Amino acid sequence: MHRRYWLALIVVLGATVLYSKRLRAYLKQASANVRAFDLPSAGMYDALVATVLERFYARVAGETAIAWPRGAVLEVGSGPGRLAVRLAQEAPGVAVTGVDLSVAMVERAARRTEGAGLGERVRFEVADVGTLPFADQEFDGVVSTLSLHHWPDPSRGLAEIHRVLKPGGEARIYDLAHWLWWPAQGGDRLAQTAAARPLGGGELEVVRWPGSVPAFVLLRLRREQEADS
Ligand SMILES: C[S@@+](CC[C@H](N)C(=O)[O-])C[C@H]1O[C@@H](n2cnc3c(N)ncnc32)[C@H](O)[C@@H]1O
Repeated sequence: MHRRYWLALIVVLGATVLYSKRLRAYLKQASANVRAFDLPSAGMYDALVATVLERFYARVAGETAIAWPRGAVLEVGSGPGRLAVRLAQEAPGVAVTGVDLSVAMVERAARRTEGAGLGERVRFEVADVGTLPFADQEFDGVVSTLSLHHWPDPSRGLAEIHRVLKPGGEARIYDLAHWLWWPAQGGDRLAQTAAARPLGGGELEVVRWPGSVPAFVLLRLRREQEADS
């Protein structure tokens, strides 16, 4: 009886060790994939998260179309492309370029764009906001939703955004509000980002969505017009 008890204990302990190893490996992989935005998968993000945010994108697309009814707009961290498509539908004079780190997201966004018949005005590329593959002063405006809190170096991303903006252009960067962002990135990072050079001194607005919940903020950062030489 005693021996059986010990045997059972050893089996249970062995199974626990085996399971915890697998669990650790699974969690490690899951966290790497989440960082790369491939898990639960671009498709699942699109189906679950992005679907819930559809009306938020409609609002952002409307505000963005008012800011730039025509011209070249860059979307940073474009994910599955829902905002880009809405913006192009809302503003027929706008050409949208989306960039995202995730290949799966870019492929998904490209499929959505083709499906909407917008392939001539909306395109996507795999790129990091820290090293944007565009010439200086190429865009009239830059928009981004829910991506900034993933950037390893927001100041560098903002510097790149500044570089590709035309003088007089504006970046409209929507992200989670401070109280939602804090667990991911630490207390006052948003305020620091808002003050970051070279677009420093921009305006930070609270965005109430859904309903009156202050869940988002909008950083509006403007590239100054160059003085006449
Ligand atoms: C939460 S998703 C938001 C996607 C989309 N903008 C939306 O609102 O549904 C964050 C996106 O930012 C992208 N991302 C993260 N870091 C990035 C970086 N350094 N440069 C470009 N994109 C990045 C991710 O791949 C992901 O698609």
